Parts: sequence; C-alpha cells; structure tokens
Amino acid sequence: MTITLGLETSCDETGVGLVSDGVLLGQALASSMDEHIRYGGVVPEVAARAHLHSVNSCLREALAEAQLDLTQVDAIAVTSGPGLASSLHVGVAAAKGWSLALGKPLYAVHHVAGHVAADTLEHGPLPDRSIALIVSGGHSSLLKLGDLATDPIIHLGDTLDDAAGEAFDKVARLLGLAYPGGPSVQRAAVDGDPAAIDLPRPLLNSRDERHRYAFSFSGLKSAVARHVQSAQRNGRPIQTADVAASFQQSVVDVLVGKAIAACTDHAIDTLLIVGGVAANAHLREVATERCAAAGITLRIPPLRLCTDNGAMIAAIGDLVVRSGAKPSGLEFSADSSAP
Ligand code: KG4
Ligand code: ZN
Repeated sequence: MTITLGLETSCDETGVGLVSDGVLLGQALASSMDEHIRYGGVVPEVAARAHLHSVNSCLREALAEAQLDLTQVDAIAVTSGPGLASSLHVGVAAAKGWSLALGKPLYAVHHVAGHVAADTLEHGPLPDRSIALIVSGGHSSLLKLGDLATDPIIHLGDTLDDAAGEAFDKVARLLGLAYPGGPSVQRAAVDGDPAAIDLPRPLLNSRDERHRYAFSFSGLKSAVARHVQSAQRNGRPIQTADVAASFQQSVVDVLVGKAIAACTDHAIDTLLIVGGVAANAHLREVATERCAAAGITLRIPPLRLCTDNGAMIAAIGDLVVRSGAKPSGLEFSADSSAP
C-alpha cells in the first residue's frame, strides 16, 4: 500500500491531499479568492504570493487530518499544468523541495486528469471506457477516457472561445453580480424563468461535423450583453433573475446535449461531469434526468471535489504510482499551457 501526497496550485486554490489505494485519507484547502474579488478576476501575482503563504500550513493540516507523519508519504504528485504560470511554479518548487528532502519520487500530473480522478475518490474505479465533460473556468472539453493512469486521454472537442465557467463569470459581471460568477448566477437564477429570454444554444445542432463536440460561449455572452444594453437604452429594468435563469438554461442544454451525443456516438454508457461548473445545481439536475432517460450512468463528484483541490491531484497521483509509471524526476518545469 502506498500513500501519495498531492499538491495543487494551478490557480487561486492551494490544495494538499493524501490518497492511498483510491481512498482519501486527508486534505486541506486554502483559497485566495477573497483577495481577487475586488479585481473581478484572479490576479496571478496575488495568487502566487498566497500559495507561498499557505503551502506549508496546508501540508501540515492535511497530514494532521490523515493522522500521518510526512515520513510516511511514499510519493508526491504535483500539478505541472495547465494553469497560471506563477501559481504553478510555487507548487512545483515546493513539491520538488519535499521530494528532495524526503527522498521520495515526484510525479508531475495534469490538472484536468486530476479533475477526472477526483470522481474515483467518491464513486470508485472508472469503467474501461467513459466520456468526461470537463467544465471549469479554463476548460470546456469532451474527453474519451480509458484507463486514466496508462491510456492516452482522447480529446473529442473543446471550446472555440470562452470556457463555460468563464461565460458564467462574464455574464455575472454584465449583471453586476459578484465574482466568481457561477455561484452568483446560480443563486440569481433560482427566482427566474429559464424561458423568459430567447437565447441561442450555440453549436448544439450544428450540421458541421467538426463542431459536433465543440462549444462556443462567447456569442451567448454577447446575446446577454445585447439584451442588457437594450433594456438600459429603453429605460426598462433588467430582470436579473430571468436573464440568469435563461443564460444558465442555455449553457446547461448545450453541455448536457453534447455530452450525451458523445456517449451515444461512441456507444459508451458512463458520463462524468467534472470541474468547477459541475458544482452547478441546475446542470446536475438536468444531466441526471437526461442521462437516466438515455440509459447513461452519470458520475459527478460531490461539490467539494468539483472545484480545484489537492485531493484530486493525490487521486491521479495514486493511480499513476500504482500503474508503475516512472517518476518525473526533478528536471521538469511547470507548463502553463499544457495541452
Ligand atoms: O475548476 P475550477 O475551480 O477552476 C478552474 O480550473 O478553472 O472552476 C472555476 C469555475 C469558475 O468560472 C466558477 O464561476 C465556476 O467554476 N463555478 C460555477 C459554479 N461554481 C463554480 N459555475 C456555475 N455554477 C456553479 N455553481
Ligand atoms: Zn480546475
């Protein structure tokens, strides 16, 4: 039995997790979100400084929760990308230091593979084949998965412009709602009518085969902006709840529609939805209904494992270590634009 320590610092969350044979032993999370709110987005310099400040206290806290001593750790995994370069460098440097000091192997892992692996902590090993929809502030992708640790992840499609979470953040700003936008839009949408405003479902029924698994959210955001501007020009009040609900419905229709199409096209009956936007209650509800109707098993990690955290990096690290893969050594660098 091996114990793998995972460290995540790709954006504004400092996360440490400890996983052994697919079981989460302990984790700790610190966020610099409060420091970014007044800027309306993550400021890389501020995030990097916060990681430096929190990384060792998160390590201590995760070890305490797991009732472990640092010397009991067998391997270390760290997010090497993608993400904000300055944030990634702090994590990579810390993990290299721990690896060197403890004489334990270090594994550089991919942030997105971590999001997918997070689900295995809750729902157990993945089946041989599955489809993953990864939706966060930086990604909207459809992936075809085999064995997470050993098989290549096959990329089916991506966003052509804004990521789903980015669209939530931008629409929140248009509506004067607080950052991060996803939770604010979700809250505002509770009292709104999702059919109140006729918004596009970008690329949902595109006849162009190249766009079958592609997303595009910037036109949807512009449609919301036009609606808001037209209300302002005509002196009408902006119906924030209706706009939020209609926008959220459009995003959810597109995400769920395309994810189910990917499962059906590839005759795969397991769908994972992961990443920060998977925390969206309406997305979870609609995906649950439509997957049940299509005979697809839906797996969505619990809320605390959807947004960035250290447990997910320990989870992918644990799978990689147990696959017998070679450690990354100390020579690798953070790769902020890792494909
Ligand atoms: O995975 P994540 O924590 O960080 C990245 O790797 O990007 O995702 C953050 C994104 C943000 O854009 C945030 O607005 C969105 O996830 N998000 C949500 C919700 N909670 C977080 N979007 C919609 N509904 C939510 N409840
Ligand atoms: Zn993420």
